[in-house]
Amino acid sequence: MTVARTAATAAAITDAFATLRAERDRVEAHTMRDMFAADPSRFSRLSASDDGLLLDYSKNRLDTAAMVALLDLARVAGVEERRDAMFAGEKINVTENRAVLHVALRATQNESYVVDGKNVVEDVQSVLAAMSKFAEGVRDGSIAGTGGRFTDVVNIGIGGSDLGPAMVTRALSPYHDGPRLHFVSNVDGAHIHDTLADLDPATTLFLVASKTFTTIETMTNAATARRWIVAALGEEAVGAHFAAMSTAIDKVNAFGIDASRAFGFWDWVGGRYSVWSAIGLAVMIAIGTKNFRDFLAGAHAMDQHFRTAPLDRNLPVLLALVGIWNRNVLGFPAKAVLPYDQRLERFAAYLQQLDMESNGKRVTLEGAPVTMPTGPLVWGEPGTNGQHAFYQLIHQGTDVIPCDFLIAAKAHETDGVHHALLLANCFAQTEALMRGRTTDEARAELAAEGKVPAEVERLASHKTFPGNRPSNTILYKTLDPYTLGRLIALYEHQVFVQGAIWGIDSYDQWGVELGKQLALQLLPMVDGRADPASRDSSTAGLINAAASLR
Ligand code: F6P
Repeated sequence: MTVARTAATAAAITDAFATLRAERDRVEAHTMRDMFAADPSRFSRLSASDDGLLLDYSKNRLDTAAMVALLDLARVAGVEERRDAMFAGEKINVTENRAVLHVALRATQNESYVVDGKNVVEDVQSVLAAMSKFAEGVRDGSIAGTGGRFTDVVNIGIGGSDLGPAMVTRALSPYHDGPRLHFVSNVDGAHIHDTLADLDPATTLFLVASKTFTTIETMTNAATARRWIVAALGEEAVGAHFAAMSTAIDKVNAFGIDASRAFGFWDWVGGRYSVWSAIGLAVMIAIGTKNFRDFLAGAHAMDQHFRTAPLDRNLPVLLALVGIWNRNVLGFPAKAVLPYDQRLERFAAYLQQLDMESNGKRVTLEGAPVTMPTGPLVWGEPGTNGQHAFYQLIHQGTDVIPCDFLIAAKAHETDGVHHALLLANCFAQTEALMRGRTTDEARAELAAEGKVPAEVERLASHKTFPGNRPSNTILYKTLDPYTLGRLIALYEHQVFVQGAIWGIDSYDQWGVELGKQLALQLLPMVDGRADPASRDSSTAGLINAAASLR
């Protein structure tokens, strides 16, 4: 894979952005409200769907001509070539010299994904088979603890070894018919302490999830869990109460976990892309092999769509390009993710790692400073709760925050009242953000409420909504394993496309290293074994203050 962009590509990208800025100046002469009024077919022009998954991006400050310019940018930036390089197993993670092949984890048996000349699909399928044997054994009780059938499973991991399985298990709770699942991630002892408080060691299984098997939080929590088992059941019980998922099988063995309970994956799987791998074992134990396979199949369907759909109908490409428009052309620094789906309550946290750890980069693949902003700040909470908390700022604050709304057409629950209200609220928010309310409309409403003219004038500006605030809506049939797989893969590929346009390495994460190194240096000072005087006065002051307060 050639890393360096040619001068011709760089010049073409510069030209494409110049065109986009001209498009912006043209489009910004109109509000979205005007554009909807002028074009009754705006929704059909600026939305796309694939097999019941709909992306409506018509409530953005763009039009068809601007989209054409964005699609040109994708072409000249080489998005398709880079996508093909990823699927071909080329080492597109250049700083770690690794292939990026999470797509192989959801491939069908007869497909081929090659890394260093080897088809990896066979290995993937054999780990899936081993996971399935173990998961089904735990589910049917044939694999049990010293006190009998496992009632509780605790996944110990952090980052990608926690957020994926935790988010997916919560999202698929209607399919959860295995033992109870718990997730411990934080090195704060409160997390494992509170989790273990109500559990019975004799019927608790621990899954130690760590790609590297060196992450201090996970190793510390795993050691605490081990001590908890040994204290209650004795050293000989450890084997029955632990399993692990890692690329470092030698380290798993050194921890005392038997090879038959160690489920491997590979360095071409990034942590934040690993829920499809052995890291998904907790999910498989919760929902069973068939549902887990449906989850993989959904992601695979999105991979095929991403690989083959024309760019102008390609959901991840469209989502990414609208994001580029908002970030780089209109200059909005953040993006809110607002699932109208309570079971997606961890989705924003999951996307934060996926997007911000992937595209929070300040240098290009060549190591030069980027020339434009990269990944936005991603945050969010489920609606309708957010409506009663932070939406005020999204509607009337001084920053424009583009939003992604996600909602199922059909709920799992049969009481239609709730879901009709949910749908109405979701669509109403997108409409309110787009339309806003003019000061004249606010005046008319106040007058209709019987307010006297002076009161109307006093309140009118407070009741004015600027509108013209962008949002996407992603509508799916129902939140089943297949659909969730497609949704996650949609965002994975959106992140890919944006990283390709920005020319950055979306698959490394050097930015987390410095803090880790410094924490290890500070630990002896916090412990009182070393003097913090060598540190800056704030850090030393905080260490001393904490010591004096203990
Ligand atoms: O925070 C950095 C990071 O490496 C993430 O990318 C990763 O998901 C997390 O730590 C956990 O890493 P591991 O699975 O190796 O314990």
